[in-house]
Amino acid sequence: MDELYREVLLEHYKNPQNSGKLINPDIVQKDSNPLCGDVVEFYLRLKEGKVTEVSFEGKGCVICMATSDILSEKFKGMSLDEIQSMQREEVLDILGLNLTHTRVKCAMLPLVAVKKGIIEFKSKGEKK
Ligand code: FES
Repeated sequence: MDELYREVLLEHYKNPQNSGKLINPDIVQKDSNPLCGDVVEFYLRLKEGKVTEVSFEGKGCVICMATSDILSEKFKGMSLDEIQSMQREEVLDILGLNLTHTRVKCAMLPLVAVKKGIIEFKSKGEKK
């Protein structure tokens, strides 16, 4: 079964659907994995409290980049609160792989980055 998930991840890595920059996003957040220095930057656009567009740029391993693409798709249509309540287990379930502790950090970088961006956005008290 792992093989199927690996293929899906590789496909997202090679042909990401959500890579690139958004013009005038509501949320922009960069974060890096301190273990390897890899970086992701996320762009989110909001409308009426929901995420309508998401994209990302970065440099990272297959797991980090593929997870960025998969989660970008998942975030669309979610509220900021819903994204903030997402937990590690949910991300790992989506990926469907048994990951080592180091690799879990790779998989969590996208969600960690977006959550930081949401906290920053909310702290500015902006309403969308
Ligand atoms: Fe750097 Fe995975 S090795 S994010």
